[in-house]
Amino acid sequence: MKDLHDRVIIITGASGGIGEAAARAFARAGAHVALAARRAGALEAVAARVRALGREALAVPTDVTRRADVAALVARTREHFGRLDGVVANAGVYLRSPIRDLTPDLLERSLAVNFYGGVYLVLEALPHLLAQREGHIVLVTSMDGKKGLPPDAPYVAAKFALSGFGDVLRQELHGTGVGVSTVFPGRVDTPMIADLKVPRISAKIPPEAVAQAIVRAVQRNRAEVIVPFQARLLYWAQCFAPRLADWAVRAFRLQGWV
Ligand SMILES: NC(=O)c1ccc[n+]([C@@H]2O[C@H](COP(=O)([O-])OP(=O)(O)OC[C@H]3O[C@@H](n4cnc5c(N)ncnc54)[C@H](OP(=O)(O)O)[C@@H]3O)[C@@H](O)[C@H]2O)c1
Repeated sequence: MKDLHDRVIIITGASGGIGEAAARAFARAGAHVALAARRAGALEAVAARVRALGREALAVPTDVTRRADVAALVARTREHFGRLDGVVANAGVYLRSPIRDLTPDLLERSLAVNFYGGVYLVLEALPHLLAQREGHIVLVTSMDGKKGLPPDAPYVAAKFALSGFGDVLRQELHGTGVGVSTVFPGRVDTPMIADLKVPRISAKIPPEAVAQAIVRAVQRNRAEVIVPFQARLLYWAQCFAPRLADWAVRAFRLQGWV
C-alpha cells in the first residue's frame, strides 16, 4: 500500500505513546484511523488531534483481551468508514518478574494483552482483507521479541510468541495481496517505561520515530523492522553468539534500572 490516501487503518493501543504517534503519522500520510484502547477520554483526545490534521478518526473503546470487543471494533470501523485497509496491533503492557518469583497469573496477563490481543485483531480483520485481496497487518512486538532481557520473562514470552505468529502469517499470506510487517522497537520514550532508566547506548527514542517506521513498513511492505538501527547490533550478536549478547546485556546494563 504505497499510497495511503483515504485508506482506513485500525490502531490498537492508540490512547497514547506509539499508538497515538502512529495515528498522527497515518493521518499525515492521508489515511483515516479507527483508534482503540480502554480509556475512552484519552482516545477521544487523540481522535481530536487526528481530525485537526484533516483526516477522520473514530474512537472505539476496546479491551483487546476480549475477543468480542475486538470483533466489535472491526465491525464498527467497517460500518463507519465502509472499508478497512489495514490494522496495527500495538496495544501492550510491560510486565516484568524474575522467573523464580513468577506467578502464572502475571504470565497470563501479559499473554492476554501482548499476544492474544494481537492475534484477535488479526483473526477478526483477516477475512475482510483476504476477501478484497489487499491490505496490510502490522504487529508491534519489541526488541524483547528478538533478545530477552532479564527480568522481563512475562513480556518477552508474549513478544516472542507474537513475533513467531507474525513470521508464519507473512508466509501464509504470500501472494494474497495482504502484507505483514513485524516491528521491533528498542527503548521508546512513552509512559510504558517512564520510570525505567536506561544506558545511553540504548537511549529512548521518540515514539514518532517508531510511528514513521510503522507507516514506512506499510508503504514498502517491509517484513521486519528493527528501530533504532543500533538495536540491530544486539540482534546480530544474539544470532552469532547468544553468550556474547548475554555479556553485552550485563556489561551495558541493557535491562535498565529504576
Ligand atoms: N515503550 C517502549 O520502550 C517499547 C519498546 C518496544 C516495544 N513497545 C511496544 O509498543 C507498543 C506500544 O507501547 P507504548 O510504549 O506506546 O506504551 P504505552 O504508552 O503504555 O501505551 C500502551 C497502549 O496500550 C493500550 N492498552 C494496554 N492494555 C490494553 C488493553 N487490554 N486493551 C486495549 N488497549 C490496551 C493502552 O491504552 P489504555 O490504557 O487506554 O487501554 C495504551 O494506549 C506496545 O506493544 C509495547 O509493548 C514499547
